[in-house]
Amino acid sequence: MKKVTVRTLKNIKDANEKFSMLTAYDYSTAKYIDQAGIDVILIGDSLAMTALGYENTNCIGVEEMSIFTKAVAKGVKRAMIITDMPFMSYSIDIPSALTNIGNMIKLGANGVKLEGCNDYIEKLIECTVNMGVPVMGHIGFTPQSQNVIGGHIIQGKTEDAAFELLKQAKKLEKAGAFAIVLEMVPEDAAKNITQNISIPTISCGAGRYCDGFVMVCDDCFGKFSDFTPKFARKYGDMQKLITDCAEKFNNDVKNRNYPNDSEVY
Ligand code: KIV
Repeated sequence: MKKVTVRTLKNIKDANEKFSMLTAYDYSTAKYIDQAGIDVILIGDSLAMTALGYENTNCIGVEEMSIFTKAVAKGVKRAMIITDMPFMSYSIDIPSALTNIGNMIKLGANGVKLEGCNDYIEKLIECTVNMGVPVMGHIGFTPQSQNVIGGHIIQGKTEDAAFELLKQAKKLEKAGAFAIVLEMVPEDAAKNITQNISIPTISCGAGRYCDGFVMVCDDCFGKFSDFTPKFARKYGDMQKLITDCAEKFNNDVKNRNYPNDSEVY
């Protein structure tokens, strides 16, 4: 089984094929997702909401992301593992950012994702790649900046805004990013970016023409019910499965049906 790397993803783009990315936060989910053939597994900071019940991604830090990175890395053999660097873990200065990034690699990540595009982020990407760590960019709607943006708002809607996003994508590519997530971007703008940069783009609510497509695993499995973005597709109903199983166990216990003869020592 060949490990997915930055080269695999670039080859997929060049062959005009598509790749998949799902988030995972724990060992067994990561293992099954990997066995299903998903190409990239993201320890997304979305775990703040889906796994830890916080209101947004800005509530978690390096400690939490380290624990989940370690767990996911143990379950994965084939997929490329990317850790989202959490809010404030890479924005103070380059040395502290590199320390935090390096620690995620030591815990088993194969690369990191950084949100935004400005002079500082470009410099940080250059330094991170020079240190030997692949960087996935993330532009369009960047959840860690939602307080500045003013909510979950589609980005790149006007011609000027779409052009600005294209400029950002080119800057991230020049800085050394190996792929870029485009979040909540109109399909046409994402298509134009995909056609005008040589590194893969990943659609997170950015339409059909990107090279890769990402979904939060809890949305994909029908597990998270607090809110569901328009671009999420529910492939199962884990919420029902979990509730049904728990109800059955509860009934069996109350009705003295658990444990039975074969379940005792
Ligand atoms: O945190 C996350 O899960 C993400 C993806 C949705 C791209 O950043």
